[in-house]
Amino acid sequence: MKLNTPIKFTLFLGLILCLHIILYLVISNYLNIYISATLLFTLLMTSIFFTLKYQFYEKIKIIYKNIYKFKGTSNINDFNLENADKEAEDWANQKEEELLIMQKNENYRREFIGNVSHELKTPIFNIQGYVQTLIDGGIEDEKVNMKYLKRANISVDRMINIVEDLEVISRLETDNNELDFENFNIINQIEEVLDQLELKSNKMNISLKLTNESSSEIVYADKNKIQQVFMNLISNSIKYGKDGGTTKVRLFDMSDKILIEVADDGIGISENALSRLFERFYRVDKNRSREIGGTGLGLAIVKHIIEGHQQTINVRSTVNVGSTFSFILEKENE
Ligand SMILES: Nc1ncnc2c1ncn2[C@@H]1O[C@H](COP(=O)(O)OP(=O)(O)OP(=O)(O)O)[C@@H](O)[C@H]1O
Ligand SMILES: [Mg+2]
Repeated sequence: MKLNTPIKFTLFLGLILCLHIILYLVISNYLNIYISATLLFTLLMTSIFFTLKYQFYEKIKIIYKNIYKFKGTSNINDFNLENADKEAEDWANQKEEELLIMQKNENYRREFIGNVSHELKTPIFNIQGYVQTLIDGGIEDEKVNMKYLKRANISVDRMINIVEDLEVISRLETDNNELDFENFNIINQIEEVLDQLELKSNKMNISLKLTNESSSEIVYADKNKIQQVFMNLISNSIKYGKDGGTTKVRLFDMSDKILIEVADDGIGISENALSRLFERFYRVDKNRSREIGGTGLGLAIVKHIIEGHQQTINVRSTVNVGSTFSFILEKENE
């Protein structure tokens, strides 16, 4: 009989008890009453002990050993039945959490691959369309041949941009610690970025301003990567700015750190979009953003870079009023 239910176990213990009572009645006729009582008591205790040990304790211990193995520790010496339910519950919760994270990552991966192919499809089909038209005789037509080639070229540029951004993200994710820290003048760097974006801002009739309220101009960070951060934040402020607006880059003192803000008075971002803003490929207005050449990777890259510097990127925004992105960098390392 297998002792696998409480009823069977009760019957088994009852049977042992009856056997011992019968045995006691038999041997007490031959031996002294105290000796036979002691003998039978010891025998009864031993039978109960071994039944409990091999039917319950040892089996639970094996389950426990597996829990400990999953926990990454082999210490089973403190095994205590009293904690068994709590430990098993903790373990189950932990496994459930791990499973949820794995499912989330899997969904994220699937969504990411879907996004990449979707983003690449548009320029590929454009190129295919232009090339096909040229093959079908358009090449001889002076009015369209150059125009179509130029358009195909724009789509090639777009594909290159997407692939380069993806490369940047994957590099940031794999060599997270590979930041090249150095002391550099951040004011000079911002001015350089503002110069590079001047044409773009003029087109949108947006003025770019820089004010430094910090006592220092030197920061300790990865120069190239911080340049990318400014490039994206300031170009976003222009792309999503309003005609005649202003982008202000401001630096504030924070003892041994500098707080940097990039603020615009553009279209702003709604509350529910703010929480998803730094996800790869996320764009508030997909059509508008794609029209102006946005892929939705810029802020994901910014977030990676700032987090690589052990800081966080923050944003506050009001629709139709403007947005302010801010982050902190260490001052000069002496
Ligand atoms: N300053 C801003 N004002 C309003 N909306 C913004 C601003 N910056 C970003 N956004 C919104 O956030 C989205 C994500 O920005 P992100 O920089 O990641 O992508 P993108 O500019 O569309 O493309 P990419 O930077 O990859 O060329 C944008 O599409 C836009 O909708
Ligand atoms: Mg951008």
